[in-house]
This record gives sequence, C-alpha cells and structure tokens, in this order.
Amino acid sequence: MASEQTYIMIKPDGVQRGLVAAILGRFETRGFQIVGMKMLTPTKELASSHYGEHEGKPFFGGLVDFLSSGPVVGVVLQGKGVVAAARMMLGATKPLESAPGTIRGDFAIDMGRNVMHASDSVDSATREIGLWFKKEEVVSWTSCAAGSLL
Ligand code: TYD
Ligand code: MG
Repeated sequence: MASEQTYIMIKPDGVQRGLVAAILGRFETRGFQIVGMKMLTPTKELASSHYGEHEGKPFFGGLVDFLSSGPVVGVVLQGKGVVAAARMMLGATKPLESAPGTIRGDFAIDMGRNVMHASDSVDSATREIGLWFKKEEVVSWTSCAAGSLL
C-alpha cells in the first residue's frame, strides 16, 4: 500500500467542544503523520467550494453557513492507505449510525454537527489539499524515534 495524503478538518463544533487534541491524537497514535495544519475561520466562498459537490442540495446553505461560522482546524495527514483509513476512523455521515469506536460514533449524535471532515477519495484529497493549503504549507519530515536515525 502506497503512502498517500488526505485532508481532514475539525469542524467548528469540534473546535468549540474542545475535541481537537482528542481527534488528532487518534491519527498520531495510530502512526499517521501530520504534514500540514492550520486554524482559520473559512469564508463562505471557501466553504462553498469545499462542499461544491453538494451545491443545490437542500442542506447546502446550512452546511456552508455552519462551516464558516467559526474556526476550523485543517490538517494534511500522510501515511499508508490514509485516505480510506481516515474515512473508517471518522465513521458514517449520520452520527447515530456511526459505529462506536469511530470519531463520529464516539463524539456526535447530530448530522449537522458531526465534528470532523475527511476526504472521501484520493481525487477528493488532492482537490481539497490544493484548496486549503499552499504548496509550501505542506511539509515533509522524518521521525527521530529510536531506530530511525543513523
Ligand atoms: P457528505 O459529504 O455526504 O458526508 P461526509 O461528511 O461523511 O463526507 O456530506 C457533507 C456534510 O453535509 C455532512 O458531514 C453533514 C452534511 N449533511 C447534511 O447536513 N444533511 C445530509 O442529508 C447530508 C447527506 C449531509
Ligand atoms: Mg463528503
């Protein structure tokens, strides 16, 4: 399995509930690398572009309003199979149907407040990383854990 990058984002509800460290910690302790990270309040334009695939759906306006209502934490995660793994760790879109042990299954009950986003495919990940990060904001680093140095 090749190393990949994906885009994950703690949504405003996750930030406001103090879940940033708990959520990101799951990815770090599993072994995925954070290679880009920023906190910002998205403009409506950025939020609309992020959720462009949902334009025209009845929930689109509320979704865009919500995403741009406060700070989010956007992260580029890297590792083996990270696109599918992050979706699995995130859980189903409807939190009440998300399995316990997943992020939504452990932290959410409302569809419109499901705490986190993760890219749903390699193509979406490429698009979303390009939307949220400049090239130079995504970094490269190697671990200094025991055994990894000369
Ligand atoms: P979607 O991309 O289908 O889900 P996911 O976040 O799991 O990739 O939808 C984007 C967000 O839109 C979803 O996280 C919550 C919101 N949403 C609604 O509010 N109502 C809906 O019926 C759907 C499908 C999504
Ligand atoms: Mg989606």
